Amino acid sequence: MALSRRTFSALAGSAALGLALGGSGGSGASSAFAARSVPTGPAPAPPSADGARHTIGYDRYSLLVDGRRLVVWSGEMHPFRLPSPSLWRDVLQKMRAHGYNAVSVYVAWNYHSPAPGRYDFTGVRDLDLFLRTAAETGLYVVLRPGPYINAEVDAGGFPGWLTATKGTARTDDPTYLRHVDEWLTQVNRIARKHLYTQGDGTILLYQIENEYDAHPGDATGRAYMSHLYQKVRADGIDVPLFHNDKGRNGYWVPGSFGTGGEKGGWLYGFDGYPSPSQTPPDWGTFGPGGAKGGASASPSTPGFVPEFGGGWFDPWGGAWFDGKGYAESRRTRDAAYERRFYLTNLANGLTLHNVYMTFGGTSWGWLPAPVVYTSYDYGAAIDEARNVTAKIAPMHQLGHLLQRVPDFAKLDRAAEVKAEGLKVYHLTNPDTGAHVYVARNDGTDAVTTDLPTDAGSLRVTVPGKDATLLTTGLKLGERTLKYATAEPLLCLTAGRQDIALFTGRKGQMAELVLKCPVEPFVMRLDPEAAWVYDNDELHVNVPLGQGGLTRILVQKGETETPLLLLFADDATAVRLFPYDTPSGTLLVYGPALLRHAEVRGSEVHLTGDVTGGTSIEVWGPRGIGTLVWNGRALPTRVTMSGSLMTTGLLPAVPEVRLPALGGWRMRTENPEAGPGFDDSGWKAADSRTSFSTTPVPDGGPVLFADDYGFHYGDVWYRGSFTDSTGLEEVSLAYSTGTQGLLMAWLDGEPLGTHRMPVPDKDTTVRQGTWTATAAFPVREALRSSGRHVLSVLVRRMQHDQDGKGLDTHKAARGLTAAAFKGADPEVSWRIQGEAAADPVRGPMNSGGLYGEREGWHLPGFRDRDWEAVSFPRAARYQGVTWYRTTFRLSVPADVDASVGLTLQDDPYRAYRAQIFLNGWNMGQYINDVGPQHTFVLPNGVLRTRGTNTLALAVLSEFTTLSGPGAVSLTLLGRASGGVPVTPV
Ligand code: GAL
Repeated sequence: MALSRRTFSALAGSAALGLALGGSGGSGASSAFAARSVPTGPAPAPPSADGARHTIGYDRYSLLVDGRRLVVWSGEMHPFRLPSPSLWRDVLQKMRAHGYNAVSVYVAWNYHSPAPGRYDFTGVRDLDLFLRTAAETGLYVVLRPGPYINAEVDAGGFPGWLTATKGTARTDDPTYLRHVDEWLTQVNRIARKHLYTQGDGTILLYQIENEYDAHPGDATGRAYMSHLYQKVRADGIDVPLFHNDKGRNGYWVPGSFGTGGEKGGWLYGFDGYPSPSQTPPDWGTFGPGGAKGGASASPSTPGFVPEFGGGWFDPWGGAWFDGKGYAESRRTRDAAYERRFYLTNLANGLTLHNVYMTFGGTSWGWLPAPVVYTSYDYGAAIDEARNVTAKIAPMHQLGHLLQRVPDFAKLDRAAEVKAEGLKVYHLTNPDTGAHVYVARNDGTDAVTTDLPTDAGSLRVTVPGKDATLLTTGLKLGERTLKYATAEPLLCLTAGRQDIALFTGRKGQMAELVLKCPVEPFVMRLDPEAAWVYDNDELHVNVPLGQGGLTRILVQKGETETPLLLLFADDATAVRLFPYDTPSGTLLVYGPALLRHAEVRGSEVHLTGDVTGGTSIEVWGPRGIGTLVWNGRALPTRVTMSGSLMTTGLLPAVPEVRLPALGGWRMRTENPEAGPGFDDSGWKAADSRTSFSTTPVPDGGPVLFADDYGFHYGDVWYRGSFTDSTGLEEVSLAYSTGTQGLLMAWLDGEPLGTHRMPVPDKDTTVRQGTWTATAAFPVREALRSSGRHVLSVLVRRMQHDQDGKGLDTHKAARGLTAAAFKGADPEVSWRIQGEAAADPVRGPMNSGGLYGEREGWHLPGFRDRDWEAVSFPRAARYQGVTWYRTTFRLSVPADVDASVGLTLQDDPYRAYRAQIFLNGWNMGQYINDVGPQHTFVLPNGVLRTRGTNTLALAVLSEFTTLSGPGAVSLTLLGRASGGVPVTPV
C-alpha cells in the first residue's frame, strides 16, 4: 500500500527529525542518530482530542511524541468486561489520577458480531464512546482489536459463528482473511476517528494479532502478518503498529514480515508473566539474560512490554482445579511484587509498560473462556468492584514519577554496583547526569547494607522480596538533589514554588540531601522532620508514616524560587494528585480520588471521591483563593507552605444499607424433557459434514451445536425413534469445556446427569478440548415398541481459546455422538439453542434454556402465578428451576456504592445458578465448585435508586439436594462522589 504524505509524516516522528538534522532519513524511526539527537526534556502534555496534528516517533530509548520523550505507563482494562459505559469513565479517571498515562484495550470480535456481516457498536458496545471517554480523561489509548485476542474469553475473541466456517484461523487462509477484513473494517472505521496523530482522539499505538507464535517467520505467518499490517494501514490507521510476542523470542521484530514492517512505524513488544516466586528476569535492552540472550531482540526500537502481569486469572475451584479466589492473586502479586518486577523492567530499559490487568472486571454472560469463572478481578490494582486496592501505591508512585521526572525516559546502563544481599541496577541519564539505582532484595529477610553510589555510600534497608529506588543528581526545580534514599515521586512547579515529593514504606527513615551552595532559610512545617545545614548541603531526615504528609520549605539561598519538599508513605502518597490545567499545575492532597480539576479565575473546582473524613489541600497557580469541591465552595485558609486548605474536614462517606432479599417466586421448567413437547419448530440436526476439528461420527449426523447456529449457553436435543424393546443403554458423547455437563431423559424419565470430567492437571486438558461419554442404563419400564423421545440438555461452557493457532476454538460444543446398546434405533434429532440475540444485551447474554427463550430472565416478565418460596431451599430435581424477586435500593445520589450478590450453601450440593439482574446475565455460580460466591452487579445495570429484578436459573443434578441456600446483597465499596451513571 502507498502511504499518503500525511500518513508518513505522522509515522516518522524521529525519522523526520533525523532528516532535518542530516541523518539517514527514510530508513525508519529508529536510528542511533535520532537517539543521540533527542535530549531529555519535559514529557508532552497529557493528551486530548485537541485538533492538532501530532507525530509519534521513537528511538531506542522511548517513544517520541511531537519530538518529546514519553514513557508509556499503561494499564489494561476491557470495556467488554464492564457492561455500563458510565463506569468506564470511573475506572479511567481512577487510572489517570493514580499515575497511568495510557489505557490498553482489547476489542473482542465476538462481543460485537452476532453473525457474519452483523456488527454492533452501540450501547455497552459503544467503542466510539469509550475512545471519547479516554480522550476526555487525558489517557492515551493502545488499541488491540486482534482479530485474535486470547484474554480468557470465549474462543479467544473469535465469534461463535467463526467456529463453523471453513479455513484455518490465524493463517493467510482466504476465507478467514475475508472475515478478518470485515471485522477490521468495522473497528478501524471507528478507530480512525480517534487517532492522536490527527488530533481527533488519543489512540497512540495499535496492535495486530496476539502472541502469535504458531508460524514464527514462516511463509504463512509472514503472509498473515503482512496482510493484517497492510489492511490496517489501508484503513487509515497511521499510528505505530506492533505485536506482542509471547516472550522475548524475537518474533515479529521490525522487518520480519516484509511489506510495511521494515519501514518504520512498527515496534517490537513482548509479554511477560513471570511467576512471583521467580527472580525478576532481565530482558529488554540490557543484560545478557533472556531466552535468546544478547542485548535485545530489537535493539533499534524502545523496550516495550505490551502485557506484564499485574495479577493472574483464577481457574474454577474443585478437586482438580485449584482456583482459590482473587484475594490469593492479590496476595502473591502484591505491591512489593509490583516494585520488584516493574522496577526491574524499568532498569532493563522498558519505557513502554502495560500492566495486564489494571482493572479486570467481569466476564459476564457467556463471555469467559472455559478455564475461568465469571469474575475476572485478576487481583488487579483496581478490583472488580472498582475499589482502588493497596496495589495502586507503586503504580501511582512510578506512574507519576515517569511522567514528571524526565530523567527516567532515557537511561543508559552505568558501572556495575555491588551491595551485600541486594541486586543493584545502576543507570544514568546521559543528558542530565542523574543516576538511578534500583536495589532489589530477592531474599525473604530485610537487608540493611551500604550501597556505593556516585554520591558516596548510602545506607539502605530493603524489606524481603521488595525493591527500592535511589537517585542522585536529579534536578528538583531550580535546585539539585545530591541523593535521596526515599523514592522520588514527582517534581512540579505550582505557582511560585517548586514542589518535590518523596515516598517510601511506612516506618522507613527517608534521607535526602540537597546541594545548597548558599545557606537557605528552612522551615519545618510538620513536626516529624529533622534537618541540618552543613558543608553546602541540606540534610533532611523524615520517618515515614508517622503523621500524614511531612512538609519542609526551603527558601532563599542561591535561588529565589522556594522548594517545598514533601514526604509521604504509601498510604499518604496515593492521596496526592498532580493535575495539569491550562492555567497551571495543581497538586491536591487529601481526597481518596481526584477526578477532575479546573481553575476558573481565582476558583479551583475539583471533583472527586472521599471515603474517610479528610481535609483538602491544594497547591496551584498564583491567585487562587476559593476551593470548590464537587460543586460546593468550602471554607479555606492559606497555609505556610503556600497551599489552600479546607478549615474543616469533609465528612466520611455515609453508611449504605442494603435490603434483605425475600419475596421469591419459583417455577420449574424443562418441558423439553417430556415426550409430548412440540419440537416441530426446532432445527433438524441432520448435517453430514462440519468444519469443526472434532470428527463427525461415521454415518453422522453432525450434532455439534455451532453447526446449527447455536453458539452460547445451554443447548437442547430431542432424538425421536421407534421401538426401544431391547434397549439396555444409551451412551452420549459430548464436549463442553471445563465444568460442562449433560442431562438426559427418556420419555420424560430422568436417565441421569454426567459431568465433564477433569482427568488431570495437564494444561491442554484444562483448555477443555476433550470429549466425554455418558452411559445411562435404560430401565425395563422404558423398553417398548412405539415412539420414544430421548431429551438431552447440554450445558456447554464456552469455546476453547486458540492460543497455539491450531483452530482449537473449532472443537465441537454440545453432543458429538450417540450410541445404543441392545438396540439400534434410527434416531431423528432436533436441536434448539439460544433464541435470536438480545438486541441490547447481545448474543452472549442468554443460552437455550426454556425460560431464557421465553424471557423469564427479563424484568417485565409476569411471574405472579409462580409459587411463593423462601430460602434456604433444599429439593431434589433433575433440571431447571427459576426463582425471581425484586428489590429496591435507595443509595444517596452522591454516594457511589458498589454492590454484589452473594450465594452460599452446603458445598456438597451439586447445582449451579445463572444470575440475571434486570435481564443481564451477571454470571454463573457453581455451588459445589466455586470459588466464586460474590458476583459484582455494576451500577447502571443495577438501579441504585429504584427497583431491580433478580432471576436465578438453577440447574440441579439429581444426585444431591439443591439450593439456593442463602442469597443476599453485599456492599463491596462506597465513596462520596462517583460519576453520574446512566442506566443501561
Ligand atoms: C497473555 C494473553 C492475554 C491473556 C494473558 C493471561 O498471554 O496475551 O490475552 O490471556 O496471557 O491472562
